[in-house]
Amino acid sequence: MRKIHVIGIGAGDPDHLTLQAVKALRGTEVFFLLDKGEATSDLVRLRRDVLGAHLPEGTYRTVEALDPERDRPARGADYRPAVGAWRGARARVVERLIAEELGEDGTGAFLVWGDPALYDSTLGVLEEVLERGAVAFAYDVVPGVSSVSCLAARHRTGLSRVARPVQITTGRRLAEGLPEGVDDVVVMLDAHQTFQRYAGTGEEIDIYWGAYLGTPDEILVSGPLAETAPRIVEVRAQARERKGWIMDTYLLRRRPRDSAERDAHERGAPGRGAPGPG
Ligand SMILES: C[S@@+](CC[C@H](N)C(=O)[O-])C[C@H]1O[C@@H](n2cnc3c(N)ncnc32)[C@H](O)[C@@H]1O
Repeated sequence: MRKIHVIGIGAGDPDHLTLQAVKALRGTEVFFLLDKGEATSDLVRLRRDVLGAHLPEGTYRTVEALDPERDRPARGADYRPAVGAWRGARARVVERLIAEELGEDGTGAFLVWGDPALYDSTLGVLEEVLERGAVAFAYDVVPGVSSVSCLAARHRTGLSRVARPVQITTGRRLAEGLPEGVDDVVVMLDAHQTFQRYAGTGEEIDIYWGAYLGTPDEILVSGPLAETAPRIVEVRAQARERKGWIMDTYLLRRRPRDSAERDAHERGAPGRGAPGPG
């Protein structure tokens, strides 16, 4: 039977791959690379770099296909029908790739940014392909270093505070309000720099922002939200202009209200100490 690995490859640095991921790469004959078009073909190149860093040349094959375009509904509109339709279109592309490019007993792989468990549709798409019933295969999942772990590591901070929850959410959700009862919020998929809405509310919030994490273009900015937000907006716009695309993630952290927690917080507040090595 055909076999598929879904391999988390980390946020962009070939060194993010786990030994398990490297083993899975070595057991793969065909890598399927879905490209979203010119602006993000950098991302296909980065995937190729990951393969080049870990596999001897000539020992594997890559097959590229165009990832179907996704309709972007207006802000506030229900995005689920558009996501459903896009996932269906993607399933048809993936079904064709597996049926046409992989022999009956072949092993193929999809390389997924960060961790496949976090805001990624590959697992849902593979399930949809299996449901369609035209091609049979077994698949497994190799976890990866997500951009969230990378963000925390590069800022040398934790995501959680003692016995407190952390929420990972999207820019779209953050636009509806900062969650109640959660003081540490990680935001992904935010094309609108939604953090700006909370910069002038008078609430004491710190931001830890990172773009192109794990790549040579990585940018890190952190500080009190009120004074740091305009700088991030400017840096982000310049970087996006320069490269034609951007991927950024950030942590919003409410300052603690009680004094013991405040002391602990002060020790890890943004801008303390010199940046770490690397
Ligand atoms: C479709 S999600 C994929 C997340 C991925 N599975 C992970 O574990 O990081 C894409 C979002 O992840 C974040 N992201 C992914 N790679 C990133 C990177 N290298 N630097 C900053 N943010 C990144 C951005 O928020 C982007 O909008």
